[in-house]
Amino acid sequence: MEKFVIEGQRKLYGEVKVSGAKNAAVAIIPAAILSDGLCRIENIPNINDVTIIAHILEDMGAYINMVDKTTLEIDTKNIKNPIAEYDAVRHMRASSYLLGALLGRFHRAEVSLPGGCDFGVRPIDQHLKGFMALGASHSVEGGMVQVSSQRLIGADIYMDVVSVGATINSILAAVKAEGTTTIENAAKEPHIVDLANFLNSMGADISGAGTDSIKIKGVKSLSGTTYTIIPDQIEAGTYMVAAAAAGGDVLIKNVIPKHLESITAKLIEMGVTVKEYDDSIRVVRTGAINKCNVKTMPHPGFPTDMQPQIAALLSIANGTSIVNESVWDNRFKYIDELNRMGAKISVDGKVAVIEGVPELLAAPVKASDLRAGAALVIAGLAARGTTTIEDIKYIERGYEDIVGKLSSIGANIKKVYVPDEVVSIPKAL
Ligand code: EPZ
Repeated sequence: MEKFVIEGQRKLYGEVKVSGAKNAAVAIIPAAILSDGLCRIENIPNINDVTIIAHILEDMGAYINMVDKTTLEIDTKNIKNPIAEYDAVRHMRASSYLLGALLGRFHRAEVSLPGGCDFGVRPIDQHLKGFMALGASHSVEGGMVQVSSQRLIGADIYMDVVSVGATINSILAAVKAEGTTTIENAAKEPHIVDLANFLNSMGADISGAGTDSIKIKGVKSLSGTTYTIIPDQIEAGTYMVAAAAAGGDVLIKNVIPKHLESITAKLIEMGVTVKEYDDSIRVVRTGAINKCNVKTMPHPGFPTDMQPQIAALLSIANGTSIVNESVWDNRFKYIDELNRMGAKISVDGKVAVIEGVPELLAAPVKASDLRAGAALVIAGLAARGTTTIEDIKYIERGYEDIVGKLSSIGANIKKVYVPDEVVSIPKAL
């Protein structure tokens, strides 16, 4: 098994470059199904989730060519069968975007019920609501979701909850529908704007992305394109918090500061110095960390995908902080692991009460999901001693070369291979 081994309490200094946005890439790659031509996508992050979604398309018959580490060429004209039942589909939430893209092109789709990180129920009722509004019918059988429609007719869709995935899937299904679709109470995340820009670069007619009201005028066809994905807001935020937790002075490059405003505001509230430049952001922390309260909200609020990371930082703040997780039902599984490192955190439903401690102590811990794993890396950077983190596959799903990037700014972090422990089970007496 592979583990991260982190020697903590080393301050971080230097520059780190942020990769392309995971949650934009895993939406834009399936969206290429809607194109009649060759799509060249640049600034692709080199992470497992992207590899998986690209392989799924390739297995369905698409031409996939990694031009270089961050540039992908896709031509999906040879995809004939709109069915994706691969095991990989079940383990990745973003595979649900195959439903919207295949429905939008073939007027039918059959995809394994999507999985993803385990922090509560991952329903798709709002995705299906969008498809039904456009005229599609759906059924769920044997773990597969089927959607189909003779025609897709533009409609008004009102989302009951703000959902990134449902907003994305409704856009994908509507972009070639007949007539105009509006999505009200839409999610406003940067990756939704990026997807809309990608589709518009192919000839789609989408306006309002980034607001809670998106209008999609159906078009007959979409051409090929060359498109560059935005930088990853959450990866950037993770390095900002890591610099604050370890202490030091780090310049995080290839960012869009506007996407980081809620994270910047919280770090400044905690006494951290944050300086914004055109496409980079500098984080300096030398003194104490102040407590503060955080409530996760859909964009532009504080991102839920930064909740574990900021909680790790608050665990060594002066005073008691409250973290309120308003998006997911159960996104505090990592708290037990932080408490093994000496944190003093109690959880009651969707609220965590964090009593700051002077320092964390290294311990063997396990990542339960992508951002929980990032929080444990941050805790390991701040802790006294050597922390080992198991189940790092979750972390590597969403962070390109996290060991190389952290090492380049002075962290002592290594990926090691440890033979699986053979647990000898005592013979029956
Ligand atoms: C996306 O997940 C992200 N994943 C998640 O990031 C992120 O946490 C989430 O958006 C919120 O920002 C990707 O982009 C691949 P939602 P998604 O639909 O689309 C409820 C990461 O770490 N809901 O916005 O699945 C749902 O239960 C990952 O990169 C319904 O009720 O999230 C949740 O409470 C983890 N019905 C809320 O909406 C639905 O049909 C937000 O979910 C859909 C969602």
